[in-house]
Amino acid sequence: MDGERPPSGSNELNPHVAHNARVWNYWLGGKDHYSADREVGDRVFAMFPNIVHVARADRAFLGRVVRHLTGEVGIRQFLDIGTGLPTVDNTHQVAQRVNPRARVVYVDNDPLVLVHARALLSGTPEGATDYVDADARDPETILRAAAKTLDFGRPVAVMLLGILNFVLDTAEARSVVRRLMDAVPSGSHLVLTHPTLELGGEGNVEAMRFWNEHAKPPIVARNGQEIAAFLDGLELLEPGLVSCSLWRPELAGVGGEPTRIAQYGAVGRKP
Ligand SMILES: C[S@@+](CC[C@H](N)C(=O)[O-])C[C@H]1O[C@@H](n2cnc3c(N)ncnc32)[C@H](O)[C@@H]1O
Repeated sequence: MDGERPPSGSNELNPHVAHNARVWNYWLGGKDHYSADREVGDRVFAMFPNIVHVARADRAFLGRVVRHLTGEVGIRQFLDIGTGLPTVDNTHQVAQRVNPRARVVYVDNDPLVLVHARALLSGTPEGATDYVDADARDPETILRAAAKTLDFGRPVAVMLLGILNFVLDTAEARSVVRRLMDAVPSGSHLVLTHPTLELGGEGNVEAMRFWNEHAKPPIVARNGQEIAAFLDGLELLEPGLVSCSLWRPELAGVGGEPTRIAQYGAVGRKP
């Protein structure tokens, strides 16, 4: 990042300790990161080179799911929690290309994401985008703020991509999902990705330990059974809970066989 200095007005921003939003941006090939982020990003990559594929496959999954939900299912509202730094094809851009009237609320608690949020608020005049600076562990605050933009009487896609892994306590993570899904009507969807030590992710143990000693916030991997439990009570869209790279790869419109990566993905519909 130019000048390696934090933007003014951002008290909590610490460029000397690697932060997930910035390292994720680094792995995605973005430009919003400091040297501390690159150092940790490179060390994790050395231990678990697939991390770059994980980040990119996760974003590609986001694009396929949002296109499907907007185009085929007719969802017009998205609550994207743990948004990350703006990148190519953010949720509102994908959704509003299909339906310019789509409404999107982004939520993150990273101070640099807040600084860059303007780039997330450049939607179509017919639709709407908003940004909420809040903690994923506080769904009531998120729902209250999102209600200014989203109509919770109509279906909403609740997007939890790469975020429940920062809610370390599994009971608390389940409670977050339940409180969010309780607030949306039938026909709403839960979109989920989550890192795992399965699906070829066994090599990630050491890298995650390193992350937890040197970067913020701490992360946890979960197994397929634990991740499936987040979707309890929902109707899973085909093909169910799979490596996110294998979730309807045909929708990507590219040739070649997608490879399995250590990030589960699923979409569930609230009956
Ligand atoms: C791995 S990135 C995923 C970004 C995006 N959802 C994606 O799939 O590409 C996780 C994001 O969650 C945010 N995050 C981590 N813990 C959070 C919390 N407790 N509340 C809100 N956001 C959080 C980080 O700042 C980061 O931007």
